[in-house]
Amino acid sequence: MPSPFLDQIIVGDCLDVLREIPDGSVDACFADPPFNLKKKYASYHDKKALEEYLSWCEKWLSELVRVTKPEGSIFVHNIPKWLTYFAGYLNQIAVFRHWISWDSMSAPLGKTLLPAHYGILYYTKQAKGFKFYEVRIPHKKCRLCGGYIKDYGGKKSRMHPFGTLASDVWTDIHRIRHNRRRDKHPCQLPIHLLERIVLMSSEPGDVILDPFVGTGTTAIAAKRLGRHFIGIDIDGEYGQIAREKVVREEASMYGGRYVSIFLNQIVSIQEVDCTSLSSQNVANLSNAVRTKPCACEIK
Ligand SMILES: C[S@@+](CC[C@H](N)C(=O)[O-])C[C@H]1O[C@@H](n2cnc3c(N)ncnc32)[C@H](O)[C@@H]1O
Repeated sequence: MPSPFLDQIIVGDCLDVLREIPDGSVDACFADPPFNLKKKYASYHDKKALEEYLSWCEKWLSELVRVTKPEGSIFVHNIPKWLTYFAGYLNQIAVFRHWISWDSMSAPLGKTLLPAHYGILYYTKQAKGFKFYEVRIPHKKCRLCGGYIKDYGGKKSRMHPFGTLASDVWTDIHRIRHNRRRDKHPCQLPIHLLERIVLMSSEPGDVILDPFVGTGTTAIAAKRLGRHFIGIDIDGEYGQIAREKVVREEASMYGGRYVSIFLNQIVSIQEVDCTSLSSQNVANLSNAVRTKPCACEIK
């Protein structure tokens, strides 16, 4: 029987809602919890004592692992400081896969290294037989001349016409900088970041759960890619924004395949879909692929 929470944005405390979700019923979980950095949320107070914050995090981490299917995955986004604690806990109850480094510049703080990445912990529930789908991302090109930024040397003829397989360092997705592109939320994530995670870890029809869904990013990514979602947030205002946005979303497809698109360009596609498209279609995925070197580099 489908869960009453399926394809819903639920306003409530994630621990209360998670307790209602059966064991092993979700294909992938993504969590972007409050960072305990005194961010100004509409209702949540982002300042707990260290021990209180960590013990609260262990509770929902343990719930996420419980509700995930044996072949499913758990992703947790945060600053490196908190991820070191989360990893210590998750290593006991799930299987570490990757620490994804999401490159994102921030303001210099002084007397410290400039924090220039967020981490995304990637765990699976079991060591073998988990769902993982290779994802291809476009070659990086110069914004001025359109030439490749990376020097492929004499191996250009062997280059994939669209792009490379995603690594654990993501430098091609920016934080939302413009106010006109964001909701009234202090730390909304870009939808195509979540779309890459959804494509990596699930197939159409699967269920993606986010216990801190904010204004709906994960739910939107899941719906665009033909997956089901369960989104939870404690804040009624965010929940309402998320519901209004999700209902308007449509499938994100190219050539009959679910793909992630940003600014009219495909930014993530499952390798299996890329391979099954004709070479003409693959070349079109990122507009015309240019083979000349980047003029800006030559200068
Ligand atoms: C870092 S933000 C998530 C933003 C989200 N990823 C997005 O793109 O919009 C953390 C969210 O957790 C919510 N929150 C805080 N405590 C919560 C709780 N106990 N249960 C559910 N949500 C909670 C806050 O209201 C906030 O929207």
